[in-house]
Order: sequence, then C-alpha cells, then structure tokens
Amino acid sequence: MVHYKSNEEIELMRIAARLVSKTLATIAVELKPGINTLFLDEMIGSFIRDHQAIPSFLNYHGYPFNSCISVNDVVVHGFPNKRELREGDIISIDVGVIKDGWHGDHAYTFSIGDPGKEIAQLVRVTKESLYKGIEKAVVGNRLGDISYAIQEHTEKKYGYGVVRELVGHGLGRSMHEDPQLPNYGKKGTGRVLNEGLVLAIEPMINLGKRDVFTEDDGWTIRTKDGKPSVHFEHDVCVRKGKADILSDYSIIEEAESKNPNLFVG
Ligand code: MF3
Ligand code: CO
Repeated sequence: MVHYKSNEEIELMRIAARLVSKTLATIAVELKPGINTLFLDEMIGSFIRDHQAIPSFLNYHGYPFNSCISVNDVVVHGFPNKRELREGDIISIDVGVIKDGWHGDHAYTFSIGDPGKEIAQLVRVTKESLYKGIEKAVVGNRLGDISYAIQEHTEKKYGYGVVRELVGHGLGRSMHEDPQLPNYGKKGTGRVLNEGLVLAIEPMINLGKRDVFTEDDGWTIRTKDGKPSVHFEHDVCVRKGKADILSDYSIIEEAESKNPNLFVG
C-alpha cells in the first residue's frame, strides 16, 4: 500500500532527510586515509542521538550497526569495521534516522584520494544517473520512467552493471514502504506517480558485471567480479512539474570539496 504525504508531513520528512545530510557532511570532514569505518559508525550514532533522533538501521532485521559503510567492491550493507581506509578507496556511507516518527534514508559515495580515471567516472556517472531518475519523479509519469532513466544513463550509455537484487523504495513512517523502485526498467510502465509520494531513489552501479553475492555475515553485498560499485541515494517527493529533493547534497559536497583528502571528480 502506498502512503501519500501531506505538505505538513513532507516538511517533517525534510527535517529527517536533512539530518541524514548533516550527518554525512559531518563525516565527510573526518574522512582520510588511516581511519577505520567503525570509528565513523560510532560518530554517526552519536551525531544522530545528539540531534534527538534514532539511527534507524541499528537492529533493523537484526542489522548490528548505525550505518552501512561499503568500500570498493562492497555494493551496499557493508559492516563498519577496523580496516583502515586507504588512498584510492571509494566508500559509500548510507545513513538512516527516525526523527519525530519520520524516516530519512540516504547515501553518498566519497573517494579517498584519486581512485583513477575509470572509477572516478563510475562515481560521477552514478550520481548523474540519480539526478536523471529524480527528473522523472513528477506527477503523471510512471515509476518505470525513473528506473529507465537510471538504466539508460549507466548500463546503456557506459556499459556498467546495474544491480538487480536491490531496489529503491517508498519512505515515510517506515523505512521501506511501497512501491519498490528498481534501477532498471521500461519507460511508460509501472504505477502512475501522484503528488506526495516520497521515494528513496538509490542507484547501485557496478564498474563491471551486475552480479552480486551476499557474504556469510548475511548482510554484506559484494560484486562477484570484485570490481568496485557505487551507491548514491536521495529522498525525493513527487510533485507537479519538478521533484522536491528532501535530502541535501550541497552541505555534503561543500564538506567534500574542503577536505583535501577527498577526490572530487
Ligand atoms: N538504504 C538502505 C535501504 O534502503 C539501508 C537499509 S539496510 C539496514 O535498504 F539494514 F541497514 F537498515
Ligand atoms: Co534506502
């Protein structure tokens, strides 16, 4: 069942989404070679709680951390751990909060130093594909228009692998609401988009083949070919004429551009 949100509810969801953005911007300042991702996860948990919110991933179906931190060939749902970040790593940080009963859930991929041309392009194109999808999140379009736009820009244009096993989703009082939103599909198909539908749009794009597997920990998703994967996610409200992006990359990008340890392509 799809839940459409009122304007008042959208403003509450914007607060939740922006708290995630602020968390990611705070973490962006800390990123450098030599730190471990468990340290980042602890910072994420504290920051969220300090802002009168709950880290929504913790204990979600038994998930044991505040955030998902996915490095290089880890696609999503990576466990924060003691491994130190290195020059050339790419790192997707996915954060969720519950603020006053509403969920925010979004993600950003950072490059620790220069990952090289090929991977830098994958990062850039995956982010572009997210915005191509968002452009389609307007009243009267169909869900498949979003999926198609993401697939066109990544798989068709660049030959990247679009992960099939994981999808975007509706967002609201629950982290995962209907509808599911694949990152591949046909335009003109699927449900018609109506005003007030909030979607977490989240392309997961592989440099190599699309195939992935789940590690023995039951969570960590990796590419089968061991090549890197990139993940960006925004929380978006469907509106007439132009989608309303509830999360805010501008503060993350500002922190990213000021941090000399991060590569901005
Ligand atoms: N952003 C992811 C999603 O939408 C993260 C949730 S996984 C969790 O599915 F288990 F850590 F919560
Ligand atoms: Co999500």
